[in-house]
Amino acid sequence: MAFELKNVVPWGRNLEEYSRIFKLTELDFKSRILSFGDGPASFNYEMTKLNRKVISLDPIYQFTKDELKQRISDTKDTILEQTRANLDNFVWSNIKSIQDLEQIRMNAMNNFIDDFELGKTQERYIYHELPNPTKYSDLSFDLGLSSHFLILYSQLGLDFHIKSISEMLRICKEIRIFPLLNLNAVKSEVLEGIIDYFQSDFIISIDPVDYEFQKGGNQMLKIKQK
Ligand SMILES: C[S@@+](CC[C@H](N)C(=O)[O-])C[C@H]1O[C@@H](n2cnc3c(N)ncnc32)[C@H](O)[C@@H]1O
Repeated sequence: MAFELKNVVPWGRNLEEYSRIFKLTELDFKSRILSFGDGPASFNYEMTKLNRKVISLDPIYQFTKDELKQRISDTKDTILEQTRANLDNFVWSNIKSIQDLEQIRMNAMNNFIDDFELGKTQERYIYHELPNPTKYSDLSFDLGLSSHFLILYSQLGLDFHIKSISEMLRICKEIRIFPLLNLNAVKSEVLEGIIDYFQSDFIISIDPVDYEFQKGGNQMLKIKQK
């Protein structure tokens, strides 16, 4: 089925959030990072400004800057309304209010939009849809990340997750996935199946992180080559 922009709810986080979500260390920052389902986050833009190396993959990178800008503007109010209707599902300590959330997300997405065309020419934003194979060779990246896509969208099913994570582990020495909850903010249905499938061939841990916006969403899954 063709990937359609009208089905995507673009919502992007920033470098400070990614740093806490994935417990990124100075050593991580110096490594070769590939971020899957990176969407309209400003992680790549901000890392590039700091001379650090990140490649972002997402199916939305097939669209133009204007199409993405339009989609962000079309969906923003609905996402904020849904968040307002479910205030109790979130922790309002770092992000203090709906207005704060809007400002932080729009800042990140505007930075992404401004960087998108240059980033495409520099091959930092690459069109790719999981679980398809990527063009990269085995273990060519140190760290693969998935923020707010895998495990969160548990309705994609265990088979989708196993195929996607297998491709991530083919090209990355280690991968980290956040959060471990589904969209209803309860433990994701696919988590146990993923651990069962990969645990004999890889080193797996669930690590606490210093980030919690979705209530209870304060852990990441780490899978490393043995
Ligand atoms: C909620 S956004 C998260 C964006 C970013 N990672 C962040 O945390 O700010 C989910 C992203 O997953 C992307 N996505 C949807 N289907 C995908 C697929 N099959 N493979 C890779 N990414 C996909 C969407 O395009 C969207 O950008």
